[in-house]
Amino acid sequence: MHKAIVHSLPSLKMARLHRDAKTFYDEIKITSFLKRYAKGKHYYIYTHGCQANHRDSEHYAGILTKIGFKKTEDINQADLVLINTCAVRENAENKALGEIGNLKGFKAKKHLTLIVTGCMVMEEKLTNEILKTYPQVDILLGTDDIVHLPNALEEHLKTHNRIVEIHSDVFNIHERLPSLRASKFKAFVNITYGCDNFCTYCIVPYTRGRQRSRDMKDILAECKALVKAGYQEITLLGQNVDSYGLDLKRKIRFATLLDEVAKLDMPRLSFLTSHPHDFSLDIIKVMKRHKNIMPYLHLPVQAGDDRILKIMGRKYTSKEYLNIIKAVKTAMPKIAISTDIIVGFPNETEAQFRNTLKLVKAAKYDSAFTFIYSPRSGTPAAKMKDNVSYQDKVKRFKQLNELLKQQMSKNNESLINHVFPVLVDDVSKTNKTMLTGRLANNKIVNFKGNKKLVGQIVKVKINEEHIYFLMGSLVK
Ligand code: SAH
Ligand code: SF4
Ligand code: F3S
Repeated sequence: MHKAIVHSLPSLKMARLHRDAKTFYDEIKITSFLKRYAKGKHYYIYTHGCQANHRDSEHYAGILTKIGFKKTEDINQADLVLINTCAVRENAENKALGEIGNLKGFKAKKHLTLIVTGCMVMEEKLTNEILKTYPQVDILLGTDDIVHLPNALEEHLKTHNRIVEIHSDVFNIHERLPSLRASKFKAFVNITYGCDNFCTYCIVPYTRGRQRSRDMKDILAECKALVKAGYQEITLLGQNVDSYGLDLKRKIRFATLLDEVAKLDMPRLSFLTSHPHDFSLDIIKVMKRHKNIMPYLHLPVQAGDDRILKIMGRKYTSKEYLNIIKAVKTAMPKIAISTDIIVGFPNETEAQFRNTLKLVKAAKYDSAFTFIYSPRSGTPAAKMKDNVSYQDKVKRFKQLNELLKQQMSKNNESLINHVFPVLVDDVSKTNKTMLTGRLANNKIVNFKGNKKLVGQIVKVKINEEHIYFLMGSLVK
């Protein structure tokens, strides 16, 4: 096994400390050594986890492209593989570890540089495991170490040593990272990095550090350039967009930022994720004011029982949550609302679970991401004793999803026979004559059409509902 050169190692404890973040505006420089090396070579990226990770992968792709690598969709053609990992639940980690495992045999056959990045490597336990039992991994980079990719790669190529560059001691903002966006018409724009909420079950504040807001002028400049390049849809990204600006010297609230971005006049504007504790009525006002802000709100509730919400550290009650939903629906009756729900939090009783079902019935969600609680070591909840069996958690999970399905169906039925603008995402994976796209409320619709329409907004009449998607037909 080659020697590991450890420039810095992660620490979940260190990551949770607050420090003032700096913003860097310098360009990444590429040496002629790397440019020569990359000639005729290809890269392949696996991305797990949330939109923040997908955006990071676009930066990795941007840097690799700047070095001179070409992208490939065929792993057999790759000379460099990057796995961008997620740590939010155990199954996300297992998937990435499986991919790393599979690449061992592959690497025995051809020369390949294997880089592992993202949230999983921010946990010292996982990084140590990789260093000990996965010798095929050449480079490890942390979530705020994207800038170190060129140097780490050059050092590895020249010395054949394994390079570890994972910082939990500094989390900054890097404005001029190269970027190769995955889509030519839909773009994600970060407004904050990290999270200050420390929900007791969640690893994110430890893997991504404390909240850092980008300067409003930098966000506006990025959005302006996207509009100019013809982008149809922009999604503003943050773990809790509603707390945008609270960490800036000049306090700016999210409603103000949203208003300013909407004025740039892109066809569609959306934002992810809202937190019920920080969501304000000002945001509803701005949403109502701008036709281009999508009538869609993702508002994770996590649980419907007040005691559980308190132990989760969510800082709102089920009643306060439902009041927000009511205010939003009163202002925008056509809005679609989605949520995240965790079942089987430690010691959740049957009665507490039923409170979640009760809330779900009242909220009438249009879609929901549901999860079985997964203990994340290093978080407060992982230390709690748990008296709920895994079978009971699975039973509750199924029961919750049955209820959600009935509601989603019912909501979808009200759309049948109506015509909506649809942004065409792609050709269907299973049938080349079919297209798939999204309504402004984010619902998926499939319909017959020519692939030339991909990236355009067209009119579609809704004919059928299938719970997770709609079927429609193109209107001329
Ligand atoms: N910042 C966002 C999203 C965070 S991660 C928010 O606060 O909503 C996405 C979702 O993963 C969370 O909303 C939560 O429902 C789920 N999640 C986070 N930690 C989890 C854990 N330990 N076990 C199961 N689900 C978890
Ligand atoms: Fe995790 Fe809570 Fe932050 Fe969301 S708000 S990323 S659930 S700590
Ligand atoms: Fe996963 Fe990290 Fe996102 S843990 S959900 S990739 S912030």
